[in-house]
Amino acid sequence: MTVDSSLNYSFGTRAIHVGASVDATTGAVIEPISLSTTFGQSEPSKPLGIYEYSRSANPNRDNFEQAVASLESAKFAVALSSGSATTALIVQSLAVGSHIISGGDVYGGTHRYFTKVANHHGVEASFVENLETDLEATLRPNTRLVWVETPSNPTLKITDIAKVKQILLNHQSKTGNKVILVVDNTFLSPYISNPLKFGADVVVHSVTKYINGHSDVVMGVLATSDSELHDRFRFLQNAIGSIPSPFDSWLAHRGLKTLHLRLRQASYSAQKIAEFLQSKIAHDGSVLHVNYPGLFTHKNYDVVLRQHRDGLGGGMISFRIKGGSKAASVFTSSTKLFTLAESLGGIESLIEVPAIMTHGGIPKEEREANGVFDDLVRISVGIEDTDDLIEDIQQALKKASH
Ligand SMILES: Cc1ncc(COP(=O)(O)O)c(C=O)c1O
Repeated sequence: MTVDSSLNYSFGTRAIHVGASVDATTGAVIEPISLSTTFGQSEPSKPLGIYEYSRSANPNRDNFEQAVASLESAKFAVALSSGSATTALIVQSLAVGSHIISGGDVYGGTHRYFTKVANHHGVEASFVENLETDLEATLRPNTRLVWVETPSNPTLKITDIAKVKQILLNHQSKTGNKVILVVDNTFLSPYISNPLKFGADVVVHSVTKYINGHSDVVMGVLATSDSELHDRFRFLQNAIGSIPSPFDSWLAHRGLKTLHLRLRQASYSAQKIAEFLQSKIAHDGSVLHVNYPGLFTHKNYDVVLRQHRDGLGGGMISFRIKGGSKAASVFTSSTKLFTLAESLGGIESLIEVPAIMTHGGIPKEEREANGVFDDLVRISVGIEDTDDLIEDIQQALKKASH
């Protein structure tokens, strides 16, 4: 579905109004949930409206897709049943014999799909620690796709998207081979970064996280301005059937309307919490290291300033706590406002220990090479009041250091 003039409005206005017009029949300000699986026709093959069968298209999904396309400054968006289904669809669009290059520090499920599913369908993946420095040497004549996750999970490393794109453009002018650049923008959401503006061909999200924002929908979305890619993805989605339900599309669309407010608050609190944790390094040594893109000490802070809206760091922080895995366990079991749970990006704050939770499936050596030590704690900062969150962390740190 294309999006047009509404691109001229600022982010918050587009979040609320794009794909959300007043219902022409009833005047309803909020769209009804359209549960019908099929739509009437006046003559064989002449639908009464623009819909025929809801695997192919549904009004709630269309509205959500229009809104996401607008927020990502894309022409098109395709919403899917999960973030993982989005990854699968993109990989399935590649021919047998294709090669993918991925950043090493990607979501575990993406790593699993590349190494345990894609390979069975004739698509091979290589992982590189630093795409900016190692990509060129890893490109092959059959490389068709580069997958970037920035910031990475859980160590929040930042990749310069424009730099990666330039390497791919140089490769194309030397060899004639076009390589698609895909950026997983789940950790920042379209409010903080729009990867297509820096040269990405496709941007993907686990809608389950910030876009829906209320931890009650599992869904995914991709956006692109390339009509050929979009047509291919849409064709595949209809052929495979990896669609979100109308109800989930409606909920995710409702969640998206407050994305800018939620992300501003989460980023504000995360910045304060990261600074507090950082101060603990010198103050009492209870914290060993803090990963947060909003800290000016972050290794790629210059890229953050270019690539993120207002240099915002987002709502995700990770840090190493003094006292090893025991301290990490006591700390994460002692917070009262931060719920010990996987996932991220909701209005409520969450906390976890990646080494034994989200990243438990990765061998220790590989994990630690990426900075995921047993004492690493990951925080998803919600939109509760900042002072309450800091106080909660303070009391849990005290418990962990005894
Ligand atoms: C960065 C990232 N991408 C993709 C996914 C997969 O999304 P889903 O859980 O909606 O399938 C996740 C899930 O945690 C994620 O964190």
